[in-house]
Amino acid sequence: MREYAIAAIPADGIGPEVIAAGITVLASLEKRLGDIKFNIENFDWGSDYYKKYGVMMPSDGLNQLKKFDAIYFGAVGAPDVPDHITLWGLRLPICQGFDQYANVRPTRILPGITPPLRNCGPGDLDWVIVRENSEGEYSGHGGRAHKGLPEEVGTEVAIFTRVGVTRIMRYAFKLAQARPRKFLTVVTKSNAQRHGMVMWDEIAAEVAEEFPDVTWDKMLVDAMTVRMTLNPRSLDTIVATNLHADILSDLAGALAGSLGVAPTANIDPERRYPSMFEPIHGSAFDITGKGIANPVATFWTAVQMLDHLGETDASARLMRAVERVTGAGILTPDIGGTATTKEVTEAVVDAIYSSN
Ligand code: NAI
Ligand code: MG
Repeated sequence: MREYAIAAIPADGIGPEVIAAGITVLASLEKRLGDIKFNIENFDWGSDYYKKYGVMMPSDGLNQLKKFDAIYFGAVGAPDVPDHITLWGLRLPICQGFDQYANVRPTRILPGITPPLRNCGPGDLDWVIVRENSEGEYSGHGGRAHKGLPEEVGTEVAIFTRVGVTRIMRYAFKLAQARPRKFLTVVTKSNAQRHGMVMWDEIAAEVAEEFPDVTWDKMLVDAMTVRMTLNPRSLDTIVATNLHADILSDLAGALAGSLGVAPTANIDPERRYPSMFEPIHGSAFDITGKGIANPVATFWTAVQMLDHLGETDASARLMRAVERVTGAGILTPDIGGTATTKEVTEAVVDAIYSSN
């Protein structure tokens, strides 16, 4: 029996709804396969915890998480707590504290899902976006002076280090190399941002020499939105900065049909710390408690988690089950269906049990 310790942090809004669905599906994989076991511990951190204790997680939170093999995360954000508090109080400290510097976001059009682009069906859009997840525009560097006065100043400094850029480039080239097309697009804004972004381009060219079998090209981030929309087949693996990839991956999620299906993995490639797996979407106040949150992103990120743990049979089985269910038209309203979270979850569980 192979056992894995998983820390579940459902947090806010629809987070608990989709993480509960994910845990149900993991339990059915356990039963179906018989040789793996997930020891899942639940953490009640998030905005309710903040309202009680004034912090999003306890001060020794990272220490408590350290011993786990992976973290399964829902979403943070509450209507009555400022977003920078929820984000910087929970999700970002985990990403940064555990040096999860590679944020990996696969996007594909799943069977049964009608994407917003005409003439774009399954197979026409199959991307993995690699987002630098430890520095760049979200390094937290900056400050405010003369608060509230007419001469008030706010700075938000983007930090690019040679170590940080080299390691994400290497990760992206390696990932591109492992995919059939062996093709990487490096995104920057090195025309307008002439320091850090020019360094980014130079390091890309240096790292490219280590991967002679990977073809690569460069795009400016604004032009990239056009290429993603008008020529999705021309892309495969994509690497971009923290901010750029944050924006591009929301676009990618929308082009694939819905944010509700888009997963993400925050990876420490050196495996010094647990990596964290989550749906891309937020806490979706508008549908919280209605029972219609799409659990597919949370299932897909479980696929990424299983891959990371080396459980490739379980991960392939789960992905097939999800695709069978979407292909059968069992979809939540965000992707044009009428099914509830529970119905989609039960259908995926059935597909896991009935698969051979
Ligand atoms: P959001 O992702 O929560 O929702 C955007 C839209 O997509 C909403 O209409 C929502 O109903 C829909 N949606 C999202 N996930 C869905 C799902 N699984 N099934 C069906 N529909 C889904 O983004 P929004 O509204 O900008 O932010 C709400 C809160 O979430 C804010 O507090 C924000 O800071 C936080 N947030 C947290 C993230 C995280 O924890 N990683 C990421 C993005 C936002
Ligand atoms: Mg985002």
